[in-house]
Amino acid sequence: MAYFSLAFGSATKNRDGKIIEAFFPYPVMAPTDALVDSLAEITGYQQGNQAIEISTSQSALLAAAFEKSGDTSNAAFAAKAAESNNQPLVLVILATDDKPASVAEGFLKLQLISNRLVLPHGTVLDGIFGLLHNIAWTNEGPIDLPELAERQIEARLAGRHLSVDCVDKFPKMVDYVVPTGIRIADTARVRLGAHVGEGTTVMHEGFINFNAGTTGTSMVEGRISAGVVVGDGSDIGGGASIMGTLSGGGSVVVSIGESSLLGANSGLGFPLGDRCTVESGLYVTAGSKVLMLDSQGKEVETVKARDLAGVSDLLFRRNSITGQIECLANKTAVELNSELHSNN
Ligand SMILES: CC(C)(COP(=O)(O)OP(=O)(O)OC[C@H]1O[C@@H](n2cnc3c(N)ncnc32)[C@H](O)[C@@H]1OP(=O)(O)O)[C@@H](O)C(=O)NCCC(=O)NCCS
Repeated sequence: MAYFSLAFGSATKNRDGKIIEAFFPYPVMAPTDALVDSLAEITGYQQGNQAIEISTSQSALLAAAFEKSGDTSNAAFAAKAAESNNQPLVLVILATDDKPASVAEGFLKLQLISNRLVLPHGTVLDGIFGLLHNIAWTNEGPIDLPELAERQIEARLAGRHLSVDCVDKFPKMVDYVVPTGIRIADTARVRLGAHVGEGTTVMHEGFINFNAGTTGTSMVEGRISAGVVVGDGSDIGGGASIMGTLSGGGSVVVSIGESSLLGANSGLGFPLGDRCTVESGLYVTAGSKVLMLDSQGKEVETVKARDLAGVSDLLFRRNSITGQIECLANKTAVELNSELHSNN
């Protein structure tokens, strides 16, 4: 049988004993039957998608099972976890990629994306928003929101200061994983479940939501909304906005191809192709009427921006005299590209 994924990690429970978040340092894609069978023997896993709580003594056995399968990272983690002091431990086995049924499953799926094991849209996340708790992420760890006030009082009376970094269902990505080859100026701007490609820099104004992100080298100084994927070599200029689909009725998932540029303070509401530029300050929504110009600057036709979805080598600008949105061949990008090729 082909399993989707599995992961062993540590979790946080609320006072009702319910898991509210889980950290999986080494998630495994497509685990072998042999590994699943040996973990099942220790944990009683039978079939389907399950989040199973693990005792420290079971954790020692898991360490041996991972070791036998050749997974030394998980083996070392399980061995350390076996010595931990009552920290909740959880094993998630996902036979299939179905919508997450528990908090631990949801956190695993977000970590699969942020660990770059799957791309955004590469795993089913339906219903995750309703599943996750709204949590106060503090310097003393995640606290279920209904318990925060009491914990603040307890901390003060014990002479400690409980500092709340954020109140959200999704924590910041870097508290779970820092993928290789990235820079993030303000870590709170990148949520767990973001896919940050090797070579990407996220500046202070940049933001990446869950199930969204970059696939390679990008400079992100604007906002990448949930579901949006930005191709290798594309830059998101300062304050630029990309329309998401979570609110407002939009249904087309916006994406950006390779080597494109969203100018500073621009906005994008339709899928952009490769080597395209959107002028600084111009917001092109899917329904925007766009005047197509030929290489002589003559008007050819008027189309809706959504009809240009995925078309490459385009420059969008708002004519500073007429106010009309215009689209012409993106000469700068084409030139840059041929320069790149001549250097090959
Ligand atoms: C749209 C943009 C790409 C055009 O830049 P460009 O290709 O270098 O073009 P130029 O500014 O040299 O202009 C070429 C011609 O188009 C004209 N032009 C440029 N923008 C125009 C506009 N909005 N309306 C009318 N004419 C315009 C210029 O006046 C010039 O005319 P000319 O041939 O008579 O001299 C650029 O203005 C832009 O917005 N870049 C984004 C940069 C950015 O924000 N980066 C991110 C930083 S965080």
